[in-house]
Amino acid sequence: MLAAGILGLSSLSLKRIAEAGAGAVVTKSVGLKPRTGYANPTVVQTDCGTLNAMGLPNPGIFCFAKEIREAKVIGCPIIVSVYGFSVEEFVEVAKKAEEAGAAALELNVSCPHVEKTGSEIGQDTQLLEAVVRAVKAETSKPVFVKLTPNVTNIVECARAAEEGGADAVTAINTVRALAINAETAKLVLGNKIGGLSGPAIKSIALRCVYEIYREVKVPVIGCGGVSDWRDAVEFMLAGATAVQVGTAIAFKGLEVFRSINKGIEAYLETKGYPSVRNIVGLSHRC
Ligand SMILES: Cc1cc2nc3c(=O)[nH]c(=O)nc-3n(C[C@H](O)[C@H](O)[C@H](O)COP(=O)(O)O)c2cc1C
Repeated sequence: MLAAGILGLSSLSLKRIAEAGAGAVVTKSVGLKPRTGYANPTVVQTDCGTLNAMGLPNPGIFCFAKEIREAKVIGCPIIVSVYGFSVEEFVEVAKKAEEAGAAALELNVSCPHVEKTGSEIGQDTQLLEAVVRAVKAETSKPVFVKLTPNVTNIVECARAAEEGGADAVTAINTVRALAINAETAKLVLGNKIGGLSGPAIKSIALRCVYEIYREVKVPVIGCGGVSDWRDAVEFMLAGATAVQVGTAIAFKGLEVFRSINKGIEAYLETKGYPSVRNIVGLSHRC
C-alpha cells in the first residue's frame, strides 16, 4: 500500500500509484477544514533518514471528497486517512469520506507535530478508544488505526484501538525528531520538531509490529522504512498482513511497488510458500 501523506492528495497521483502496482492507496490525511500547513523547510534529509513537519496541509474533506469520487475508478481500494481535533470531527470527516467512496478509513492518531490532534490523541488510550468507537458506530467501512511509536508501550495503544472496534492497526507513524544546523545554531525545520521516516526507523517499526502481533487479534499493517521486498518480507515475518511504503518513493520512484511485489513472489517461490499468508508472523514460531 501507499503510506499516508506521500503523493496521496489528488485522484491523478492515486491513479499513478495504483498503476505502479500498489495493492491499495492511503490518501494524505484530511481534516474537516482546509489547512495550509507549516512554513518551509518542511522536509529535510538527515544523515540517517528523512525528517518532515508538513503540518497536515490538506484542502479539507468537503473539497477532497471530489478527489475521492474521481479516484474510485483507479482499480484498487482507496483508504482515506482521517484526522480531527475532537471525537466529533473524526466522525464527521470519516462519514464524508465514506460517502465519497472510501473503501476503508485510516485514523491518523499519530502525527507527531500538530497540537491537539495526532499523537496527542494516540498517546491517550482512553481518548484513542473513544475516537475509534465513535467512528465505528457511525460508519460501515473497515477502520484502521495508525499508531504512534512515540509512547512507552505501543501494545497498550493497539489494545485500546482493538477495544474501540478497530479492524486493523497500522504501525507506525514517524518518530519524533529534529535537526540542527551547526553553522547557524538554528533548528532546521520551520516547525522545529518533526517526524523521522525511512530506513532509520525500520528496526523500530519492526519491533512495534512484532510486539503488537503477539498481543492483539486484529491484523497489523507494517509501515516505516520499507524500501525493498526484503523489508516487506521481514515485516510480514514479524506479523504484518500488509505493508505500506512512503519515503522510499522519493528515492526509488514509483517502480518500488512493482519491484517489491516481484521480490515477494520470488521469495515465496524459492521458499515453497503458496501465499504470503504462510509467512505472516512466522518469526514468532521460530
Ligand atoms: C512527507 C511526509 C508526509 C506524511 N504525511 C502523513 C500524513 O498526512 N498522515 C499520516 O498518517 N502519516 C503521514 N506520514 C507518515 C507516513 O505515512 C509513514 O507512517 C512514515 O513516513 C513511515 O513510513 P516510511 O518510512 O515508509 O516513510 C508522512 C510522512 C512523510 C515523509
